[in-house]
Amino acid sequence: MKELCTARLVLRLPQPADAAPLLRHLQHPDVARWWHGYDAQRVWEELIAGEDEETTRLVIERTADAQVAGLVQFTEHSDPDYRHAGIDLFLGPEFQRQGLGQEAIRAVVEYLIDERHHHRLVIDPAVTNERARATYARVGFRLVGVMREYERGADGTWHDGALMELLARDYVR
Ligand SMILES: CC(C)(COP(=O)(O)OP(=O)(O)OC[C@H]1O[C@@H](n2cnc3c(N)ncnc32)[C@H](O)[C@@H]1OP(=O)(O)O)[C@@H](O)C(=O)NCCC(=O)NCCS
Repeated sequence: MKELCTARLVLRLPQPADAAPLLRHLQHPDVARWWHGYDAQRVWEELIAGEDEETTRLVIERTADAQVAGLVQFTEHSDPDYRHAGIDLFLGPEFQRQGLGQEAIRAVVEYLIDERHHHRLVIDPAVTNERARATYARVGFRLVGVMREYERGADGTWHDGALMELLARDYVR
């Protein structure tokens, strides 16, 4: 796929040189709390070299200084009767709280609606990830409900997930 450009970001396919900054972000406690279990090998195998028919990963690069700010991924579920896509992302701590998360998500949302013709998108933060939930709500995602014991957290216990969805016809640009 081609790059996605926003006012302050370029979203592009991962390259080998992205491994080190991505690992640095993922090892920071503010990120590892929500994206846990990444070491150099997993970053390489999953985020850089990983090939997956349904999942696309894009490095989030800040245009002004070409710094790797984070990564966004989306998974397209191909069964025609249940067609939808899910999104997930992280930003390094120094790139958070500047509206860049919302900017990256909007770029992916618009690509999935305009280019991939999805009518429904989902995102599933931990119930306790209030920052992520607020960001997704600002984009237009609505809470469907709580999925109990949905994901295993960094502490090894099962945590509740918040299922949020956005219909293309409700999206406000
Ligand atoms: C969740 C996450 C992606 C949100 O990204 P973000 O860039 O921090 O969030 P937003 O885009 O909504 O930014 C909003 C904040 O930027 C501020 N801001 C500053 N300049 C802004 C601008 N030009 N436009 C919009 N907001 C701006 C807003 O006031 C707001 O501040 P607040 O959080 O203190 O209220 C990010 O915090 C993150 O990666 N967290 C760690 C990993 C994680 O939780 N991932 C999600 C797993 S489901």
